[in-house]
Amino acid sequence: MIGIFDSGVGGLTVVKEIFKYLPEHQIIYFGDTARLPYGTKGADFVKKYSKKITNWLLKRGAKIIIVACNTSSAWAADSLKKDFKKTPIFEMINPAITEALATTKNPSASLRAGKKIGIIGTPGTIRSGVYQKKFLKADSSLEIFSQACPLFVPLVEEGLVDDKITIEIIKKYLEPLKEKGIDTLILGCTHYPLLKTIIEDTIDSGIKVINPAESLAKEVKKYLEENTTTAKKIKRGSKHQFFFSDEPYNLEKISHLCFNKRIKPIVKDPFNV
Ligand code: DGL
Repeated sequence: MIGIFDSGVGGLTVVKEIFKYLPEHQIIYFGDTARLPYGTKGADFVKKYSKKITNWLLKRGAKIIIVACNTSSAWAADSLKKDFKKTPIFEMINPAITEALATTKNPSASLRAGKKIGIIGTPGTIRSGVYQKKFLKADSSLEIFSQACPLFVPLVEEGLVDDKITIEIIKKYLEPLKEKGIDTLILGCTHYPLLKTIIEDTIDSGIKVINPAESLAKEVKKYLEENTTTAKKIKRGSKHQFFFSDEPYNLEKISHLCFNKRIKPIVKDPFNV
């Protein structure tokens, strides 16, 4: 199975892309609804539970792990890769960076020269500074601007993906990035791909908006095509399992927005013993 975890229901945006790019593989999902949000927690907390969840998914038969939560990817992915050396671990940051590097060019003559990239995410992801570090390591001439958008998660969970209120909040968060002249914007949080269209329509400026869930799914597909021994170990079929550590709030709304169908949650907290 492909093990996928998130702090809650938002990781279904990643499941959506995995279903699209790797439709034959079986997945096991874990949403840590008992402890969300991760986006405002400290690094140690996020690392601790990301490790516990990874361990649990591996015990239940996952052969590769996708860290769908961007905050976990920011704080915990590097330590997970060290702790679980034998397991292929995928996270949300590197695939989006690769795609952004191939995209940014700032063609507008009216802007100051330089490639400018915007990143939005939870307060934790932005505070981690991980995108800045990785981008500048790849290309020190880049200019990186970031913005935490904590109101986006509750807006999506309430299903307000095309509401007037959401447009106002998008303007508030994104106008400053637009004024800096970014030409590429990374949606660095599980929920934000559900706002992609409304963000593109609201900022309306030719800024290329990157959905890391799609970048990640393409990367996993490529990996499995190149690593057939691992690919063969992953169960096929559609007996997907969706575990949540507590009742998942608005699961129906989010699963409907992601894949227009219901999923049956299994509610179980393996860490509350
Ligand atoms: N899944 C989180 C992320 O992608 C957003 C929700 C939360 O804060 O737990 O960063």
